[in-house]
Amino acid sequence: MPLIKQATPEALQEAAQLIRGGGLVALPTETVYGLGANALDGKAVARIFEAKGRPAINPVIVHVLSVDEAQKYVVMNAAAQKVAASFWAGALTMILPRRVDCSVSELCSAGLPTLAVRVPSHPVMRAVIEAAGVPIAAPSANRSGTISPTTPLHVAESLGDAVDMILAAGACAIGLESTVLDMSGDVPVVLRPGAISAEEIAAVLGHEVTYDFGAHDKPRSPGQLLRHYAPSVPLRLNAIDIEQGEALLAFGSIKFMGIKGGGAAKDLPPSMLRNLSDSGDLHEAAANLFRYMRELDKPDHQRIAVMNIPDQGLGIAINERLRRAADSNRSTAPTA
Ligand code: TXA
Ligand code: MG
Repeated sequence: MPLIKQATPEALQEAAQLIRGGGLVALPTETVYGLGANALDGKAVARIFEAKGRPAINPVIVHVLSVDEAQKYVVMNAAAQKVAASFWAGALTMILPRRVDCSVSELCSAGLPTLAVRVPSHPVMRAVIEAAGVPIAAPSANRSGTISPTTPLHVAESLGDAVDMILAAGACAIGLESTVLDMSGDVPVVLRPGAISAEEIAAVLGHEVTYDFGAHDKPRSPGQLLRHYAPSVPLRLNAIDIEQGEALLAFGSIKFMGIKGGGAAKDLPPSMLRNLSDSGDLHEAAANLFRYMRELDKPDHQRIAVMNIPDQGLGIAINERLRRAADSNRSTAPTA
């Protein structure tokens, strides 16, 4: 087991020191746990790819403390500055052109002329960036192609001793990865939906912002090409009732939901039933999603039936994760 340390001031300093010295530390953020390394140190960034088993074509997000710091590495036009002023610090990543004098390791860009940057709001993550004094490259702290971790234990289970230390600060408040907004072209496009919606970004920019999840020939983000979390048991989406042998990932009331052939969903054994939110709250559902998917992904379940989740607000981001997980069962692409 890797070293899990509660985020005390001492542990925080230790984490920062490890990162400065080229180590790998799993760090809490408001979205999911990240696998952090010094973004200026190519060797340290290479260790991220190794630990995750991540394909070298998949670039990595760099975390900094402020817009000013971001501008040391990327070019931010007026629109990018507006978006940053509204949503940073927070769950938004922007893809921007690298500055010619950008000192962040090219590995973070995976050969692209752009760099993904994010200003996180989690106080522990911010304190580590500050103490380390360097930008921190951090993808989600899981093996490539598996589900993102929302607790320190998930990280330990997924990465084991490949990480030097796990800085623990409980479960992540949002529970889904950040919104990825590509601001490097003429038109801003959301490549990965998250807690900050295209509509909210559009309201700031004063024009429409579209989603592009890469379900076509020319994905803009390498991550879109790759296979994502593939549960060992298949998912069946938009279930209105369940079949014998299926576990249920519910959303909202299941009072009237039946099992084909007889029985009520509410009487399923506890191991076969998780409700993302009894009251139908999308924030609660997002925070529970990855943990519950793990907990239901058991070989003795024939399938996981997933109830419909409204495709609005955070529901868009939840549905995108669910669709990818369902599709992954059928695809042979390399893992993200
Ligand atoms: O919430 C988050 O974003 C978490 C926390 C730790 O910050 N990080 C995270 O990183 O989810 P990762 O590596 O698991 O996902 C980053 C996504 C990938 O799909 C990657 O392909 C895409 O962003 N990406 C990164 N840099 C890019 C770039 N320069 N151009 C296009 N896509 C990029
Ligand atoms: Mg990831």
